[in-house]
Amino acid sequence: MVKIGTTEEFKVVFVDKEMAKSINHKLKGKFEGKASENLVVNDSLAYVGIDEPSDEKLGYRELGFNTAKFVKKLGVAAVELDLTLIKEDDLPNFFLGLYLALCVKKTYKSEEPKEEGKQDIFINYKLLPDAELADYMEEGRILAENVMAARNFVNAPSNLLYPEEFARQIKSFVSGAGLGIEYKVLHQKEIVDKGMGLLNIVGDSSKNKPCLVVLSYNGAAGSDKVLALVGKGVCMDTGGYCLKPGSSIYDMKGDMAGAAAVVSAIKAIASRRLRLNVKAVIPIVENRISDASFVPSDVITSYSGKTVEILNTDAEGRLILADAISYAIKDEKATHIVDIATLTGAVVSMLGQTVTGILSNDENGFYKTFNEASTRYGERHLLLPYYKEHEKMIESELADIKNLGDKFCGTITAGLFIKAFTEDKPWIHMDIAGTSKMDSPVFSYEEKGPTGTGVVQLYSLAKLLIPFHF
Ligand code: BES
Ligand code: MG
Ligand code: ZN
Repeated sequence: MVKIGTTEEFKVVFVDKEMAKSINHKLKGKFEGKASENLVVNDSLAYVGIDEPSDEKLGYRELGFNTAKFVKKLGVAAVELDLTLIKEDDLPNFFLGLYLALCVKKTYKSEEPKEEGKQDIFINYKLLPDAELADYMEEGRILAENVMAARNFVNAPSNLLYPEEFARQIKSFVSGAGLGIEYKVLHQKEIVDKGMGLLNIVGDSSKNKPCLVVLSYNGAAGSDKVLALVGKGVCMDTGGYCLKPGSSIYDMKGDMAGAAAVVSAIKAIASRRLRLNVKAVIPIVENRISDASFVPSDVITSYSGKTVEILNTDAEGRLILADAISYAIKDEKATHIVDIATLTGAVVSMLGQTVTGILSNDENGFYKTFNEASTRYGERHLLLPYYKEHEKMIESELADIKNLGDKFCGTITAGLFIKAFTEDKPWIHMDIAGTSKMDSPVFSYEEKGPTGTGVVQLYSLAKLLIPFHF
C-alpha cells in the first residue's frame, strides 16, 4: 500500500550532490548522491540520490522504480519516502515508476511466482496539499497498472489469445468497477454484412475468425467531439501467402500491441474520469494461410467504398486499420483519429526500439497537442515527412489504391495508405513496430519483451485535449 503520511519505522530521504557531501563528511562514505544511488545509514534511515538522472524526464520514472525495488529489499513493514527534493513536474513519472515496480507481470508457468513481501510506503511531500498529491499518486498507479496490462496482453501467445478470445478478455478487462465503458463486438457475419471487405479478407485467412471491438467512454455529454483510438489487433501475423521467415514469426504474437495500448489507455482515461468522449476501435484478426486466404493480385472493396489492390499479404495491418477507421468515422462519429500499430519493419530499421514513428495530416494542430502530451512524460517519437511523390507510390493501375509502396520509405507509404481513409479528419499515426517490444532495456523500469508503449502517450493526449473544448 502506498499512502500519504510519515512513519518513524524507516525513513528514506532523497538527497542531491550538495547534501550528499555533508553526509559524506559525517559518514566518511563514498555516497555521491547520484540518481538511485543509496546509502543505508542505520536500521531506520537511508538516503537515495537524485542527481544526474539518466534522462531529463524518464530518469524520474527510473528513480521511482528503483526506489520501490530498494524499499522492498529493506524488509521493514513501513517506510517513509521524503520526496521534498523532487520537483512537482517530475512527480508523474516518479509515481508511474514507483507503481510499475509494484505491479506483477503475468507468466504462464505452472507454479505462480512467489509474491514479494507487502509493506506500507508513506509518501511525505509537504510542498502540495494532500488532495493534489493524492491525485498525482492515483494517476501514477492507474497508468502503471494499465501499462502492465498492455504488456501482459502483448505477451500472451496466439494459441491462448485469438480474436474472439481477445474480445472476451477486453470485455472483462473494461467491465469492472463502474468505469462507464460500453462494450460492443461485431462478429464476422456483421463485418461481412456491413461491407468491411478488408477486415474480413485478412481475418478469413484463419479458422479463428475476425471481429471488431468498440469501446465507448462518454466523459463529456455536451461535446460533439469524439476522439477515436484505433489499435491494430493482429493476434498472429504469419505474413499469409507472403509468408514471413520462420525466425520472424515468434514476435508476431505481439502484432496486437496497438490494440493492447488503446484498450489500456481508454481504461486509464475512464478510471480518471477525464471529461471527453473517447472510442477505442479494435479490428482483431489472425493473418494466416488457408484456402480462404487472400493472395497478391486480389482486389478488395473496403468499407469506405475504395477498392484496394493487394500486392503483399504481409501488409495486412493497414488493411484492417483502414476499415476500422471508416467504421470510427461512419458509425461512431469520430472527429479526431489516432491509430496505433506495429505496422512496419522499416520503422525498426530507421528508429530502433526506443522511438515511435509518427505521421499526421495536421502538423500545426492535432499533432502539436500530441507532441506536447508525449514529451511531457519524456516519451520518444519522431514526426516523419511526406510529399506528393510518396502518395504516388501507392497509386494502383487497377484499383483506387494498392497496399504496398516502392522499395523505399515503407513507414511513410504504410502511413499514407491509412491516411487515405481518414476523410481529412485530424489524424495521428503511431508506428510502434519498434517500440512495442525491447530486446535490451534502456531503463530499469523496462523489461526485455513488451513495453506497453502508447498507453502513457494516449492518456496524456486525452488529458491535454480537454482544454481545447473537446
Ligand atoms: N506486423 C508487421 C510489422 C512488424 C515488423 C512488426 C517487425 C513488428 C516487428 C507487418 O504486418 C508487416 O508484416 N509489415 C511488412 C510490410 C511489408 C510487406 C510492406 C514489413 O514491414 O515487412
Ligand atoms: Mg504483416
Ligand atoms: Zn502485422
